[in-house]
Amino acid sequence: METHSVLLIGGGGREHALAWALARSPHLGALHIAPGNPGTAQLGTNADLDIDDHEAVLDYIESHGIDLVVVGPEQPLVDGLTDYLEDYGVKVFGPSKAAAQLEGSKAFAKALMRKYGIPTADYAVFDRHELAALTGHIETRTDWPMVLKADGLAAGKGVFICQDAAEALMRVETILNDPGLSAAADLFVVEECMTGEEVSVFALCDGHQARILGWAQDHKRVGEGDTGLNTGGMGAYAPAPILDAAALEHIRLQIVQPTLDAMAGEGTPFRGMLYCGLMMTPAGPKVVEYNCRFGDPECQVLMPLLETDLIEIMLACVHGRLEHQPVDMRTGYACSVVLASGGYPGAYAKGHPITGLGEDTPDSVVFHSGTRRTEDGTLVTNGGRVLNVVGLGNTLPDAIAAAYARVSGIRFQDMYHRRDIGTKGLARLGLRT
Ligand code: AMP
Ligand code: GLY
Repeated sequence: METHSVLLIGGGGREHALAWALARSPHLGALHIAPGNPGTAQLGTNADLDIDDHEAVLDYIESHGIDLVVVGPEQPLVDGLTDYLEDYGVKVFGPSKAAAQLEGSKAFAKALMRKYGIPTADYAVFDRHELAALTGHIETRTDWPMVLKADGLAAGKGVFICQDAAEALMRVETILNDPGLSAAADLFVVEECMTGEEVSVFALCDGHQARILGWAQDHKRVGEGDTGLNTGGMGAYAPAPILDAAALEHIRLQIVQPTLDAMAGEGTPFRGMLYCGLMMTPAGPKVVEYNCRFGDPECQVLMPLLETDLIEIMLACVHGRLEHQPVDMRTGYACSVVLASGGYPGAYAKGHPITGLGEDTPDSVVFHSGTRRTEDGTLVTNGGRVLNVVGLGNTLPDAIAAAYARVSGIRFQDMYHRRDIGTKGLARLGLRT
């Protein structure tokens, strides 16, 4: 059997989950992860590589005989790592810089959707150098609330739902005065505020064909009942019962495949993972945003449900032959609970020892996010989101119970997690209101 040496870029929970799925493949030769984390270190070789230094990445690839690169996070994709490596003949799972604009520029994504009739919120774009046009729009707007967004990558912090003009004007200032946000705000996007429940649909893409891998619901707010500040995601579950087979087919035909066709039509075919953030509005599903990579923590629930060999799937995407590639998920559900450092998404301490991780079983898996090993080998906290505890089960309640059973043994100082991951799904199934 042909084997492949893989370099996986990234070091969060998403990458631990990808590494875990790659490591199950009989096609895997060697696995390298850059930078990786203590979880990925159990599955391959963590490489201390500066991802921004494309030449150094290429050197590493050549000196380690790597023949497939998998890019986890969005930033290297938006920075053109795929284009650089492909120029040297390296196979990369992850879109080109031009195709990654679907996530890298909200104005780009909105213009594409408008041009190709893909359902999304109505919008307008303003240049930061013509702020008077933006403030004029805000002062005369009658449709409130309104959503204000910085155009570029802002790690989820560049979106504000504004109730009135005063708040919107204040948020424009917030964006301009925050160095991180300001850098992402050459353009401002204002959008109609949609209502409905959100769901994320994950589509594998080979440039022309799209195949839905799975669908999940994330829990972005820090507090139970979806309250408090936005985070990178406090938990996820899949499949989300909000979408039945008919709804999924509608989304595939009206949103996913048209997006792929549009990108191909623009001469920038999309290869990799297209993550469609959708809102189920009274007028049907509409795109909230696109991402050009797997979600984190959604990837952590998709990978344990995947039955087909991930390397085969990724190669089919790279080689444009997804149409003939089986993509099978096991029946049943997965639920991931994020264990976070107290204080997250605000300030938090690092370096607290972690105990009680236990062993993975057919019912539960732990993926590391922000962890580190000290010199004496102790596992300690090293980030806001520390661990993802994934439960698996034939039913959603079983998956949720398996996740929380495993959580109950794990300890670190000031550990925080939501206790209601998956309850929206239970309500949909009529199991809880
Ligand atoms: P984004 O980074 O574009 O996904 O936005 C982050 C979050 O803001 C989304 O998950 C939604 O909850 C919310 N959001 C973004 N755009 C809209 C919109 N047009 N209408 C309502 N909510 C939105
Ligand atoms: N869980 C949200 C994201 O990955 O963007």
